[in-house]
Amino acid sequence: MSDLSLFFGQFLRRPSEIRAIAPTGRATAREMARLVTPDMQAVAEIGSGTGTITEAILNTGLPPERLELYELNAAFCQRLRDRFPGTSVHNLPAQEMVNVGRKNLDAVISGVPTLPMPDELQAAIVGAALQMMKPGAPFVQITYGPVAPLSEAVRKQFGLTHTKSQRIWANLPPARVYVFRQQA
Ligand SMILES: C[S@@+](CC[C@H](N)C(=O)[O-])C[C@H]1O[C@@H](n2cnc3c(N)ncnc32)[C@H](O)[C@@H]1O
Repeated sequence: MSDLSLFFGQFLRRPSEIRAIAPTGRATAREMARLVTPDMQAVAEIGSGTGTITEAILNTGLPPERLELYELNAAFCQRLRDRFPGTSVHNLPAQEMVNVGRKNLDAVISGVPTLPMPDELQAAIVGAALQMMKPGAPFVQITYGPVAPLSEAVRKQFGLTHTKSQRIWANLPPARVYVFRQQA
């Protein structure tokens, strides 16, 4: 089955978890992976879906053994294991990385749809990531919405500043990439 069919089929089953009808486009995936470099020691991607962003991350030259993937959906996890041998695929919510993941992450790349989530869930996800990341490392978040994908209250709670990309029109729907960092 193609990635598109698998993605759309799972969207129909679990729309509130997946929140998009198609995988991220290539231009957006490249922007999501822009800050990853081959010398990084540990990177996590959360909400990997069928792996469009994963592929862009690995195309930077990062060895697959240094990439951890967290994905709620079991069918997507099977696709990720088939497509990306060497990566660590966790069929777990991203919040669980504190129990199973590597520390001192150089970056976290997030396809998890944070924008529609309540503040408590946003805080659980970004809080877990920040616990596992090196100080000042980037938390890269995709969004389709018109505002920052982490609420003002959550940004304030963790002392996050951000930059954002131009809107990327070659995506369904058009997307933007935010980079959040915790201030010292
Ligand atoms: C919009 S899709 C993006 C998929 C993929 N990154 C892409 O760009 O094509 C969101 C993905 O996040 C996953 N997801 C939602 N909440 C999650 C959570 N708390 N932890 C891990 N994955 C989650 C969903 O199962 C879904 O695969």
